[in-house]
Amino acid sequence: MRHIEWTGEFLKIIDQRKLPGKVDYVCLENLEEFYKAIVEMKVRGAPLIGVVGAFAIALLAQKIKADSREEFLKKIEDGVNYILGSRPTAYNLQYCVNFVYNGIREYEHIEDMKRVAIEKAQELIKVEMENSRRIGEYGEKLLNDGDRILTHCNAGELATIAYGTALAPIRIAYEKGKCVYVIVTETRPAQQGARLTAWELLKEKIPVTVIADTAVGHIMSKGMIDKIIVGADRITREGYVFNKIGTYQIAILAKEHNLPFYVAAPTSTFDTNIDHDKVVIEERDANEIVFAGRKRIVAKGVKVYNPVFDKTPPNLIRAIITEKGIIYPPFEKSISKLFS
Ligand code: MRU
Repeated sequence: MRHIEWTGEFLKIIDQRKLPGKVDYVCLENLEEFYKAIVEMKVRGAPLIGVVGAFAIALLAQKIKADSREEFLKKIEDGVNYILGSRPTAYNLQYCVNFVYNGIREYEHIEDMKRVAIEKAQELIKVEMENSRRIGEYGEKLLNDGDRILTHCNAGELATIAYGTALAPIRIAYEKGKCVYVIVTETRPAQQGARLTAWELLKEKIPVTVIADTAVGHIMSKGMIDKIIVGADRITREGYVFNKIGTYQIAILAKEHNLPFYVAAPTSTFDTNIDHDKVVIEERDANEIVFAGRKRIVAKGVKVYNPVFDKTPPNLIRAIITEKGIIYPPFEKSISKLFS
């Protein structure tokens, strides 16, 4: 079962909102369908959103009717701006969409631009898959036989093309015969940990236990965790990590209990041009909190605030695992070297 597939005509995805109860496929063909799929979180996870965004532009390119190169590029540019508005925090979306857009711009003829758009999007599938595998190979070296690893949200296969980011080192360690145990937070409000990470790991027979988000401090204090690995939606040049809401408080608890807190992300997640206080933290619909499933749990009339990402400062992070290797503090220096 693949959760993303390019058929040659459209992009076929699994609707992740329905997992693990139902495996439902959706076909994405036009820009509005792509936009909706990302906004509604049928697809989610920074690297996956990136690749889906790239196909949104590639398929848009096939449909454009234009009399000149300028007109064609103007329509692509409008599409790029539209799709970038779907989810603001994950940098991968910007990276991948621009990868296609910049690739197109190198060509003179519209027919070449259309062909290259698809080629570039397909290239990203390969590159992201390879990057995840490399993250796994590097990160596996940080894991010991018997390690109990806490992760948050879903930074697994479903959030990428394959292997995942935070889950990649765990998968490779398991492949190499290490006994590793995963503890995953349920991850309110969208429950990516409980619904997606637990399901993925169960299928691979990697031992996994789901805990309430509020249990993290308790189980750390009981000595039940050895390491933490999380993914990232955006990493700035100083090493500030933007990830699923709740990551920051886990990092603080890790520091308090002297546990290594690792972040795993491909270089397509690094935004070296932005100041950390300028990154937009997505706020989502209050109903994600007001309802648990179909049941209303917050009384009518109560105010709700639903930021879905947070910022973990570099001083709480032991290392960042990338496809180019593992980098350590001071991150400003190691990140600058990574991109030089
Ligand atoms: O809102 P989501 O489900 O897209 O959030 C996902 C995360 O926060 C992941 O940790 C992050 O995208 C990295 S995924 C490899």
